[in-house]
Amino acid sequence: MDLRFQGIEKVNGALELPGDKSISHRAVIFSALADGTSYIENLSNADDVKSTMSCFKRLGCSFEKSSGMLKVTGRGFRKFNKPEALFAGNSGTTARLLSGILVAQPFASVITGDESLSMRPMKRVVDPLSEMGGIIKTTPKFTLPVSITPSEGLHAIEYRLPVASAQVKSAVLLAGLHLEEETSVVESIPSRDHTERLLSLKTLEEDGLNKIYVSRKDYPSCSEYFVPSDISTAAFFIVLTLLSENSNLVIRNISLNKTRTGIIEVLRSMGANIQEDNLKTKMGEEYGDLIVSSSVLHNVEIPKEVIPNIIDEIPILSIAGLFAEGDFRISNARELRVKETDRISAICKNMRLLGPDVTEEEDGFEISGSIKNENPTFDSFGDHRIAMAFGILSSLLKNGGNVSDFDCVRISNPDFLNQLKSITN
Ligand code: S3P
Repeated sequence: MDLRFQGIEKVNGALELPGDKSISHRAVIFSALADGTSYIENLSNADDVKSTMSCFKRLGCSFEKSSGMLKVTGRGFRKFNKPEALFAGNSGTTARLLSGILVAQPFASVITGDESLSMRPMKRVVDPLSEMGGIIKTTPKFTLPVSITPSEGLHAIEYRLPVASAQVKSAVLLAGLHLEEETSVVESIPSRDHTERLLSLKTLEEDGLNKIYVSRKDYPSCSEYFVPSDISTAAFFIVLTLLSENSNLVIRNISLNKTRTGIIEVLRSMGANIQEDNLKTKMGEEYGDLIVSSSVLHNVEIPKEVIPNIIDEIPILSIAGLFAEGDFRISNARELRVKETDRISAICKNMRLLGPDVTEEEDGFEISGSIKNENPTFDSFGDHRIAMAFGILSSLLKNGGNVSDFDCVRISNPDFLNQLKSITN
């Protein structure tokens, strides 16, 4: 069903958003690995995080809401129950991080996923986990289902990431947590570092490379986690505020981890007025309030190194770019083609409905010219971030617009529409 968005006049107010999805996955996983009870405050209510929880339920962990926190009972080192097939839903993070844990368990397991996840590449985790001695099979196209057989020969490696990916990095680190010897992962372009921070892993910077070390001594024990609010979710409301006249918005306790704040840096370089306040740090993760006001934006060149940092924000950044002065161009972002949908193709198809010139490239796209057709119906392609980006764009059009299959936003933010309503007139 299509969802209709009316054009809005201005944005005003404050938002408290759910916990960051990446940190939430990891808080659930580390609590599940630990032996006993852990607590998580401000866990994300995203369907993706529920997929991670449901896999760990099948592995014998339990979850219970307890005075605004999630109470998790974990199983301890290699003590999970042998599960029936584990369904990762739409969540790449669940499937890939779980693979790293399951190769080190004393039982066989299978991971499946929904239609979209079943088309996404798994070779990127199968390669390093096989190099570690894991026994892990996929379809001939290197997609789910993934089948894992217990291995006697799991061993430490040094792995140089061929693609900047926190999911691949984390899969190797999670397997390495089960080994006495030291595993290391080397990355040339930093990707999000929540796994390293929450586990306090030793990380060295040498010759412009990050090297992260892990072994059994880093295996998590019971803890109390605090999850700051999700900057990727905040990005939609930030762009809406910047592009609306006479608008102001405060977004509280947002994760400001430097491997995630590229969107704020890029928007600031485009002229955005975004201030930070009340900065704090818990468990190595920085967070604080963001104060956003209407701004006149101009397009800038987006450097290659920042792409992994803003990869989830490119759909909404392209909406900022459409309204900014000059042409908007993204390159070096081929990874967008293997997200929940091919996001390069999805953005280009939707932008073309509006009338500007759109040039699609293998690793990005360019948008120039202005909006000619108002009141379009955009396709979400079943992808939460495409749905929210074009929901925001519709709200910015005088006559509004429609987005198909908007319900898919539940994958990262089930409350998106209520949040939007609470800050717009
Ligand atoms: C994530 C890492 C990123 C990101 C995804 C969440 C994570 O994927 O796009 O939404 O939590 O580790 P890649 O690691 O594949 O780049």
